[in-house]
Amino acid sequence: MSPEPSAVEGRIVASGLTKVFGEVKAVDDLSFTVEPGSVTGFLGPNGAGKTTTLRMILGLATPTSGTGTISGVAYAHLPVPGRTVGAVLEATSFHPGRSARNHLRVFCAAAGLPDKRADEVLEWVGLTQAARYAVHGFSLGMRQRLALATALLGNPRVLLLDEPANGLDPEGIAWLRGLLRHFADVDGRTVLISSHVLSEVEQTVDRVVIIARGRFIYEGKLADLEGASGGVVVRTPTPDQFATAVASLNARITPRADGSLAVVGATPEAVGRAAWEAHVELHELRAGSSSLEETFLRLTAEPAAPPGPTP
Ligand SMILES: Nc1ncnc2c1ncn2[C@@H]1O[C@H](COP(=O)(O)OP(=O)(O)O)[C@@H](O)[C@H]1O
Ligand SMILES: [Mg+2]
Repeated sequence: MSPEPSAVEGRIVASGLTKVFGEVKAVDDLSFTVEPGSVTGFLGPNGAGKTTTLRMILGLATPTSGTGTISGVAYAHLPVPGRTVGAVLEATSFHPGRSARNHLRVFCAAAGLPDKRADEVLEWVGLTQAARYAVHGFSLGMRQRLALATALLGNPRVLLLDEPANGLDPEGIAWLRGLLRHFADVDGRTVLISSHVLSEVEQTVDRVVIIARGRFIYEGKLADLEGASGGVVVRTPTPDQFATAVASLNARITPRADGSLAVVGATPEAVGRAAWEAHVELHELRAGSSSLEETFLRLTAEPAAPPGPTP
């Protein structure tokens, strides 16, 4: 018998996750999968429910209903959680008077790791020079690096980072990108990073899970989102014939609000030729103008107010 699909080593599965705080449904029946060997962006506007979801997956908050698993089991049931999962949550606090190195050594002691591990991870995150200094003098970017160092102590195969790009300068973001890509591409680890700004992680992630108002919006390859590869906008009176005509291009066709079609994964030249060869009538054919960020904003926008009575 093959193992449960959720039991794949390093796979994160959210299944019907729901969290209610009083009147607020912070997370609403959320299901998604995060695969090892990829960097997945967990995206949504502020208040969408990202941190609450991560806290449930990490066993720090109890779901109202649903489950979150890592390698097929709840966090609390992982044999050695600290060695399996490293996490950085928002607003991580440090003892202000403690040096970066001593901060890490406290964790080393708790996790049964040798002290020299603290220096190794400090080097990874570029804090070797600052290791002896008290954390209260650290910039937000340096705190992010120290939090990441803490998460890396146990050499985890799953890394969960909540808004890690906050406070990092462009150089810091580029550095983080290299580190996370290495984890996923070379080591085959699972990396999930949340952000409320798609452009911040656009060049780092290959997959995205998008949520808004606690609900699922989109899961898939970033490259399949309209705007990622430019895309093509088409208007035709015969959409079914059009779909058949371009089938061999393996492009993704989605209807747009104005009745036109968005074709993602093909050039305007290829789409135009395929339509012409199949004698499909087109009323419009142009390169898509929406950027990835525009698509993200459109997908996560507040629903329009219901139309009022017509005068
Ligand atoms: N401990 C809590 N008590 C009450 N409401 C909360 C609590 N944590 C989060 N919320 C609410 O849940 C919603 C989702 O918050 P959060 O998960 O922090 O979103 P995000 O991380 O995407 O910005 C927000 O409306 C927030 O105010
Ligand atoms: Mg958050």
